[in-house]
Amino acid sequence: MEQTFVILKPSTIQRSLVGDVLTRFQRKGLFITGIKMMQLDEQILRIHYAHLVDRPFFPMLVNSMTVTPVIVMVLKGKDAVAVVRSMVGATNCRNAAPGTIRGDFGMSGQENIVHASDSPENAVIEINRFFKPEEIFDYPIPTLAATYAPDEIDQ
Ligand code: PPS
Repeated sequence: MEQTFVILKPSTIQRSLVGDVLTRFQRKGLFITGIKMMQLDEQILRIHYAHLVDRPFFPMLVNSMTVTPVIVMVLKGKDAVAVVRSMVGATNCRNAAPGTIRGDFGMSGQENIVHASDSPENAVIEINRFFKPEEIFDYPIPTLAATYAPDEIDQ
């Protein structure tokens, strides 16, 4: 089953929205296979946001992403990358549709609650960037059979 990578950004921690966002993912039927709090720094952000390093807002982005620790997580589910991206909504919270995480919890493009991988290829790269193999867990999920039809479960 597919895995995707999510960062709960510092503003989400400061605004005490961690539980609300996590609950959305869990209620949807995504399973947490890895989760931890960590302090990001400019070095890892220059890699993670390599496509944005030359943008004028990059110093502000680094400041925003390092002001507190973040929570990084790996979520598992069928088509998890696309499902999470659709739950998260448009990059700028002011443009994000009501019902999406950014549409319901944010007002900013920078302070946009979460980062979520944009493709299965990038999900693999980002999971490996932030997690060691032993920090990702494969455990029995008794509710799997109530979450999917048998032919949707492709272990
Ligand atoms: S782009 O520019 O649309 O190709 O960039 P994108 O890959 O969609 O992600 C932009 C990320 O940068 C963060 N950020 C900003 N974006 C636009 N304008 C401003 N001023 C800005 N400041 C920060 C934005 O939150 C996106 O972060 P992620 O973590 O990818 O959601």
